[in-house]
Amino acid sequence: MEDKFKKVVSHAKEYGFIFPSSEIYDGLSAVYDYGQNGVELKNNIKNYWWASLVQMNDNIVGLDSAIFMHPTTWKASGHVDAFNDPLIDNKDSKKRYRADVLIEEYCQKIESKINKEIAKAKKRFGDDFDLDQFTNTNERIIGYKEKIESITSQLAKALEGDDLKSLKKLILDLEIVDPISGTKNWTDVKQFNLMFSTKIGSTAKSSSDLYLRPETAQGIFVNFLNVQKSARMKIPFGIAQIGKAFRNEIIARQFVFRMREFEQMEMQFFVKPGTQKEWYEKWKQNRMAWHMSLGLGEENYRFHDHIKLAHYADAASDIEFNFPFGFKELEGIHSRTDYDLSQHEKHSGKKLQYFDTELNESYVPYVVETSIGLDRMFLAVLSNSLVEEPLENNSSRIVLKIPSVLSPYKAAILPLVKKDGLSEIAKDIYNKLKAEFNIIYDEKDAVGRRYRRQDAIGTPLCITIDHQTLDDNSVTIRNRDTMEQKRIAIASISDEITKEVNLKNWLGR
Ligand code: GAP
Repeated sequence: MEDKFKKVVSHAKEYGFIFPSSEIYDGLSAVYDYGQNGVELKNNIKNYWWASLVQMNDNIVGLDSAIFMHPTTWKASGHVDAFNDPLIDNKDSKKRYRADVLIEEYCQKIESKINKEIAKAKKRFGDDFDLDQFTNTNERIIGYKEKIESITSQLAKALEGDDLKSLKKLILDLEIVDPISGTKNWTDVKQFNLMFSTKIGSTAKSSSDLYLRPETAQGIFVNFLNVQKSARMKIPFGIAQIGKAFRNEIIARQFVFRMREFEQMEMQFFVKPGTQKEWYEKWKQNRMAWHMSLGLGEENYRFHDHIKLAHYADAASDIEFNFPFGFKELEGIHSRTDYDLSQHEKHSGKKLQYFDTELNESYVPYVVETSIGLDRMFLAVLSNSLVEEPLENNSSRIVLKIPSVLSPYKAAILPLVKKDGLSEIAKDIYNKLKAEFNIIYDEKDAVGRRYRRQDAIGTPLCITIDHQTLDDNSVTIRNRDTMEQKRIAIASISDEITKEVNLKNWLGR
């Protein structure tokens, strides 16, 4: 798995998907730049999300609010007081860790012991192996499971009660050691706020403190009435937004999985109080269906209901994805109650209520939120799609089997050779199609090498103009995944690409 992850990171750089930020100065930790192919893939993911929510639902509209917001926003939302991570330092290595993550990782180690026992038993019993019977009767596994349960419930209790002393005690009781120094020489656990602050204004006297937003959602809440009134929206309705968010992550690792500057795609769905559970379930299913439509493999997704609810939620679940480093959170679905709108009412002194004409009364709506990290979705697509495939002649090819609706380029136009007028025909085809699709023209090197280059960036179709084209206006069209080629008329290229990449064919699945 580690090897696979390294391959994803180096492929991302080599093929212009993701570069470390300001690399010539040795980079900036947990900040990345998207290259020429990365920006296309990222835009296509945004578009796929936006189309499925805003374009396909007449009760959801979009928004693009500013990154800077009035500082009281973050007091009202609870981020100033409660957007903290519990951190612990090891006095010998001088490294800092999230206390809850150290404990979770300890549990994962026990989990892998369970998996080893299962693998051994599978080998021993062969076809007669019964997983349920084995895990429910094997004493060692039962012991491991009980240990995980006990640790998890102590962890949940400590987190819920903000009990930092108990968190430290749990780390000491479990004899967790620092992976670097190997010692148990820990400091006390301290809370650390994740928001970046900056200043607005030119003079020290007139300037005031601001935060870089740690989530896009608050821009939606403070605009709730602006949008509702100007678009005459009726509850239930949603507001969707894509934008940058910033968090001073202490444990910044795993490439674009945990960044300090990242992008979120969030949708707040405003509902009648009392109906939030029903909408929460609907949005859980709806978002999972969106993921399934991309075909990255049903087995790579699972729900994980939260043990510790955030300060604003009455229910919350993650959609986890099987990244190269295991199942981790990709998207959150949160039932946020009326917490945010009520808090903004209180702090601004302005009413943020909806007048329900059917009930003839005003109320503060409840909110169900869907929130997905764009960069995490990018990593899910990239890591799932990168394949090294053996070929018949004992060689292999690297291919990115990206869902073609998301591919940076939809097709490559390739003259077999530069001479005999083939380049001219190819350029003509390219020029006629480029307003319709994002396509690429390539005439350098042998055609086999050009196919490999397109495979490596995930181009689903390669269109080759050869000598037969001069006779009958036909071209070959090669499928990235099957490598099968067929001849089609120049006049039908546009239809063939459309068939492959049309949103309707993907979102309707
Ligand atoms: N408005 C709710 C909210 O922000 P969250 O679970 O903190 O909830 C939502 O974040 C999503 O944003 C996560 O599921 C994840 O995909 C993404 N995300 C959060 N922190 C991130 C980080 N440091 N780097 C990349 N993506 C992140």
